[in-house]
Amino acid sequence: MDVDYGPLTKLIGTWKGDKGTDIAPDPDEDQEINKFRETIVFTDIGTVTNAEEQTLAAVHYVLNVNRISDNAPIHHQTGYWMWDKDKDSVSHSLAIPRAVCVVASGKAEVNAKSVSIEVATDISGVVQTEFMSKKAKTTSFKNTITITDDTLHYFETTMVDIYGNSFEHTDENTLTRVS
Ligand code: HEM
Repeated sequence: MDVDYGPLTKLIGTWKGDKGTDIAPDPDEDQEINKFRETIVFTDIGTVTNAEEQTLAAVHYVLNVNRISDNAPIHHQTGYWMWDKDKDSVSHSLAIPRAVCVVASGKAEVNAKSVSIEVATDISGVVQTEFMSKKAKTTSFKNTITITDDTLHYFETTMVDIYGNSFEHTDENTLTRVS
């Protein structure tokens, strides 16, 4: 039987974009701004059933980010977008190789031209190592993603307690579907 991915259907495929902007914490300059290029591969992986009650349609993704100026790999991320058709809710789980994981939930809006999804969590949706809790603690995460035809735009805000301050670490990019 064909799986209904609902608002996640348009994600499936490979996306590339070189208009990314990252604002990240920096101990010397308060913040660093990195222009980046990015590839995201979203793969449909079917459904899961939880506690014989909840069915989630899941799309797995892997993303790679390289800084434009020196091509350095500055971010890697993997996770799942999941749609609960009964509740019409969306969740996004992600892991990054700083030993930080996040689960954020929210809603999708689908109309004839585009799909917009917004998910968010406070610290209750964050798991991180003791080191990160002490030194670079993620305290909340919010992510909006909009797909119009073959263009995907996302904006995300990760609040990080670091260097004695609460830092608004933001990332955004506009990507084009390449397959
Ligand atoms: C496109 C997305 C992202 C990019 C390009 C990016 C890039 C960066 C960069 C360049 C730094 C500074 C590293 C350094 O030189 O110290 C950083 C720091 C950090 N990022 Fe991200 N990041 C992204 C998304 C995320 C997400 C989704 C999270 C967590 C949910 C996250 C958590 C952190 C944390 C906790 C730090 C502080 C570590 C430190 O600077 O010592 N980032 N990020």
